[in-house]
Amino acid sequence: MADISPNPEFPQTLIPEIPEAPESNGQQEYSPLPADGGAWPLISFSHVSMSFGERQILDDVSFTVNRGETLCILGRSGVGKSVALRILMGFLKPQVGSIRVAGDEINAFSEEQMRVVRKKVTMVFQNGALFDSMNVRENVAFPLREHGGLAEDQIHEIVERLIKMVGAEDVSDALPASLSTGRKRAVAIARALAAQPEVVLYDEPTTMVDPIIARRLGNLIQRLKRQLGFTSIVVTHDMRFAERLADQVLFLDRGRGAYFGPLKGFLESSEPDIQQFLTLDAYQIPT
Ligand SMILES: Nc1ncnc2c1ncn2[C@@H]1O[C@H](COP(=O)(O)OP(=O)(O)O)[C@@H](O)[C@H]1O
Ligand SMILES: [Mg+2]
Repeated sequence: MADISPNPEFPQTLIPEIPEAPESNGQQEYSPLPADGGAWPLISFSHVSMSFGERQILDDVSFTVNRGETLCILGRSGVGKSVALRILMGFLKPQVGSIRVAGDEINAFSEEQMRVVRKKVTMVFQNGALFDSMNVRENVAFPLREHGGLAEDQIHEIVERLIKMVGAEDVSDALPASLSTGRKRAVAIARALAAQPEVVLYDEPTTMVDPIIARRLGNLIQRLKRQLGFTSIVVTHDMRFAERLADQVLFLDRGRGAYFGPLKGFLESSEPDIQQFLTLDAYQIPT
């Protein structure tokens, strides 16, 4: 629940020095936000269906995410949660439906156009997807260097701030291979933030790490939401985590969006499939 309203200053509060990208490269630009700051969806799926060959994975799935909100995507393993995120990143193209990001219909976007979208929507992959040959500092600096227009001392300052924010100061010279899964994910979050995204996607951020680290990552994601008003989509089957974080819930069940709406409605639902998920699956520690 957004008890603290989104901070419109972001990312300036986090990265005050960062200037606009040097020049437009002529690619399609984002539609400006409504001047009144009114809530219109930053992201929407509208009647999206996705098959791999004969196998239909998503069947007529719709949802929206407003600016500053956190959507948790819940559902059993193999139901298509990661597929939904990959569609948003433009790595997969659904056969049917419309996907909008900040006003743009992206389903027909070219790879080049998607590169622009991926500056706004970044994904924190489970394995962190860090560059193996770069240390933590260089990994976090990468999006800043790519963005261009920053002096080395500015990059240094921003990188230190981000690394501190995710609690990775003690490993800033380390190579990713030497880090635990939880640490890799924390660093991946710092790198994602360095790209100054509008939306961060997390795929199962708290699984495969021990409960203490899971809690720490959970706190971090919650803090980003509360303090910076980040818009995020979090795929998880950790229901406790979802309860702390979710404004809206999308529950995928056998390909369908079986529930989309506020967290409270999901928890109180009398739908047998949801009840079963909540009683049997959702609070188990995932293997
Ligand atoms: N690129 C792909 N090609 C074929 N099948 C895929 C592909 N990606 C995912 N799938 C299948 O789609 C289903 C949903 O996968 P996924 O979204 O990863 O599930 P989860 O909800 O656990 O994240 C799985 O059966 C998976 O095997
Ligand atoms: Mg998955």
